[in-house]
Amino acid sequence: MSNTSTQPTVPVPAYGERTRELLTADERHRSGLFDPDVVFVRGDGANLYDADGRRYLDFMAGIAVASVGHANPRLAAALAEQAQRLIVCPQNLGNDTRTALSDALFEYVRPPLQRVFYSNSGTEANEAALKWARVATGRRRFVAMKRGFSGRTMGVLPLTWEPAYREPYAPHTVEVEFVTLNDADELRRAVTDDVAAVLLEPIQGESGINPATDEYLALARRLTRDAGALLVFDEIQTGVGRTGTFLASEPSGVTPDIVTLAKGLAGGVPIGATLMTEEVARSMPRGGHGTTFGGNPLAAAAGLAVLTEIRERDLMANAARMGARLVAGLQAIGSDRVRHVRGRGLMVGVELKEKVAPFIGALRTAGLLTISGGPNVVRLLPPLIVGEGDVDEAVGLFAEVLAAP
Ligand SMILES: Cc1ncc(COP(=O)(O)O)c(C=O)c1O
Repeated sequence: MSNTSTQPTVPVPAYGERTRELLTADERHRSGLFDPDVVFVRGDGANLYDADGRRYLDFMAGIAVASVGHANPRLAAALAEQAQRLIVCPQNLGNDTRTALSDALFEYVRPPLQRVFYSNSGTEANEAALKWARVATGRRRFVAMKRGFSGRTMGVLPLTWEPAYREPYAPHTVEVEFVTLNDADELRRAVTDDVAAVLLEPIQGESGINPATDEYLALARRLTRDAGALLVFDEIQTGVGRTGTFLASEPSGVTPDIVTLAKGLAGGVPIGATLMTEEVARSMPRGGHGTTFGGNPLAAAAGLAVLTEIRERDLMANAARMGARLVAGLQAIGSDRVRHVRGRGLMVGVELKEKVAPFIGALRTAGLLTISGGPNVVRLLPPLIVGEGDVDEAVGLFAEVLAAP
């Protein structure tokens, strides 16, 4: 078969009976945005089990969310304990668990970043970043990256590059200029003194694991400082240890004015966090932004459990080690269908010379869950707790599917 085939190379197996029943029942009410053809009913570490008891190795982790694995005992116990004590407590009221989460968070994220606003998702964390950038600078114009992904709500959508997501909702109320990641000249031209903020992902996830260079991050820092603009790092996908350091931007030595986190921070419980400097925080008047659920004790307990797991089990070192093993294993397959294997820690991309959608279907049929990053990249984002056995099994399944006729 040709390398550019758009057909799955491995046939999709017939559904089990329980899966078929559940999909039929689900179809009656779902929005129509998605068309699931698998039903998961439980998880365990890096494994997921479908309604008919079939095991899958989960190298998608809810798109970089299940950081400490499925059914993590510490996370489950923390949620149960907190649920029996207090679930609701908005941020205009103090809460012991939220304070403990902030203390734990700022053990990893150092000054001058020392203030945090909690929300419930990545897009909300970025919404807050945009609002703070506007009030802190008194400006309205943003610079974002081509192939960047910032979220889907109406305020943030204009900074998400993919035209298919963005254009149906134009015109937008946020003014944005897109520049090419790692193109210094384009950035120099764009960062004028009417810019509120430059927002970028240190490693672009949705578009296929594309890292910003350290020099580019440093240039963005210099240009924004000189122009009186803010620098915002969207670490929603890269953050919380996934790349082997707490923030993917850490090795660059560049400190932004705002960092946004979400996904892996609470291991699957909805959370968003907008971290900022004292100066940025102070620019917003009291009551200038808010949320009902953000910073609720249940999400805070989950976040605290995740950060405790990361510290006690040395999961950032594990992410670095397992990521290196995964990249080396994938490279060693040596298939001529593969153009490039790249990644840092457990944020790995395999660029194929063909469209990946059918290939990802074939991987799933073989028992390995992954997700695309743009049209040609298979993204692997396993839980940070994966072991050598999981990584080797994933590489074996990948090799098997690459070799399938
Ligand atoms: C870098 C980045 N920013 C923002 C978001 C939006 O997060 P959410 O889907 O939680 O709104 C995502 C989600 O994929 C992301 O990867």
